[in-house]
This record gives sequence, structure tokens and C-alpha cells, in this order.
Amino acid sequence: MNSTILEISERPDIKIQTVHSDLCCRYGVDLDVMRLDQIDEELSGNKWFKLKYNLIHAFENDYKRILSFGGYYSNHLHALAAAGKRFGFETIGVVRGEDPLKYGPTLQDISDYGMRLKYISRASYRDKTDSRLLSSLNAEFGDFYLVPEGGSNTLGVKGCKEIVSDLWEEPSRKPDYIVMGCGTGATLAGVVLGAQGRCKVFGISALKGAQYLHQNVLDLISGYSEYEGAEPFAFNNSWQIFHDYHFGGFAKLTPDLVRFMDAFSTATDLPIEPVYVGKALYAVHDLIREGIIPSGSRVLLIHTGGLQGVRGMEPLMQKLRTRFV
Ligand SMILES: Cc1ncc(COP(=O)(O)O)c(C=O)c1O
Repeated sequence: MNSTILEISERPDIKIQTVHSDLCCRYGVDLDVMRLDQIDEELSGNKWFKLKYNLIHAFENDYKRILSFGGYYSNHLHALAAAGKRFGFETIGVVRGEDPLKYGPTLQDISDYGMRLKYISRASYRDKTDSRLLSSLNAEFGDFYLVPEGGSNTLGVKGCKEIVSDLWEEPSRKPDYIVMGCGTGATLAGVVLGAQGRCKVFGISALKGAQYLHQNVLDLISGYSEYEGAEPFAFNNSWQIFHDYHFGGFAKLTPDLVRFMDAFSTATDLPIEPVYVGKALYAVHDLIREGIIPSGSRVLLIHTGGLQGVRGMEPLMQKLRTRFV
């Protein structure tokens, strides 16, 4: 391994910050936030962990080129493009939709990092795992290492398992609940494997009607067990996905959510993005109110990063703020 790729194989310094919100204080809940957003300026959040073993695998197998999929605001493509620049891989991003006339901040960064972009229709994007699409991409770009959308594969899960590997070293901080936003479920699968049933793990779906996520997580867990040659053990009673905190769908926001995030950030100084982290935080507060997270619990929210995406969401957030003045 060369020294640059070695950088990602070392464990980053992860801070856990205790935050105080009125509601948590009222219900006697301790809320800690694991600041994955702070581990790296570009490879931030869960992306570090999902990409880690994929990048090492690509390097060790002498791939020069990595291809992946995402939308216009994809945190995943953003991180992969940055990683390609840093570690010397050529990167290709297959983007859902037409080439926009004007790039938003995420696409602009991605293209500045040197990722080549290929736009495909939404219909073709749905077939992103189809061998015909992959062969045509192969014919167009040459040999590449494929990282699936969201970095959601066995190596992504292997990295995410490490997110919580230090957590039980300090008994006073041992959580009763770990909560995080969910897109593909790879981060949740990794954290469930890392937690090994020592606490409850809750995923908050960022998508509407994504009941299939449960099976995704089960498949990711069993894929990882197979890879490790271990008995498949899904820690079934220790985790759950909540589907009522999507606020209308992926990347959809409401005035209520924006009001909550603004108040929370002002009170705690915690920077949050609305697509995953804001919704997960809102859910934590609601689950406390509902008694699903009981008084006296210690909760660890995983801040999965995504702050680069706030730039693209700011106009919508601003518009929604004017709805409640
Ligand atoms: C900031 C952020 N949080 C959470 C997630 C959800 O992660 P996963 O797809 O592993 O469920 C993503 C998507 O990768 C993300 O960008």
C-alpha cells in the first residue's frame, strides 16, 4: 500500500459531543452526537467508512478507475470524487437525470475534483445493476472497479462496522440507543454488526415508503457474514427502521423540520444537514416524546456528515423559513 492510501486505513479521531436540548433535559435523556462530520473535510461522515475498504480493494487489485452512481446532490459521489483526486484514481460518476444547464455546488465540486460525469435517464438509472448497462459503461470507459450507489456493498458494511468499534471502551458513555439516518441501510447494517446486540440500533429512513430497507439491511448483514465466513446472525431484536420521518420523501423538507433544525442548531451549535441528520434528530426527539426511547436513556446519534449538501438545500430552507414568520 502506498502512503496516501494508508491514510484511510488508519482510524480517524472521532469526537463524541454531548448536546443539551430542552426536550432531552425534560425527559432525562442524555444525548451524545458522534461527530463523523468532523473526521475529514472532504471524506466526511459515513463516507469515510463506506469507501475505506472499497478504495483499499481497488488499490490492492490495481484498478486505476472507479465508477459509481448517484444523484445531482450525492454526498457519495462527492466523497468518491474527492477520494479519487486524493488517492490517484480516475473516477466516473453515473448521474441520474439530464446534464443540468447550470451545476449546483455539489456537481461543481465533483467536476472540479476531476470526476467524469455521465448522465443517464431515470429509467436507465433504475437498471443500474443490469449487466447490459454495466457492459455499455465498460465499453465506454474501459475497465473499472464498481462501487454501488451509496457505497452500499459488503466492503462498505465492513467499514461501517468500525464506526462503533471503540464505543464500549468507556462504560460511562455506553449508549442504550444508537440512531442514524438511513438511505441504503449499509451504515445501519455495519453499526448493527459492530454493536452486536449491546444496545438498540434505530435507523430513520430518509425515503418515503422504503419498507424494502429492512430486507436490504438483512441482505447486507448476511453478505458480510458470508464474506467473513461467520455464521449469519442478524441481531434481529436489536434493530429497527422507522418510516415516519421522511417529511414527504427524499430531500423533501417542511417548515416544521426547518424550524426544528434551526432551533436545535442555535441551542447546541451543532451543524446539521436536513436530508438525513436533521430528520434523524427530529425522530430522536419524537421517539423520546412517544416513550419509545424511555426517560433515563443514553442516546447516541451518529452525525453521518453530508454538510456539503446544505449549500444546495439552502434556497429551499430559506423559502420555508418565510412560511412561519
Ligand atoms: C449524510 C448521509 N447520512 C446518511 C446516509 C445514509 O447512509 P446509508 O446509505 O448507508 O443508509 C447517507 C447516504 O449515504 C448520507 O449521505
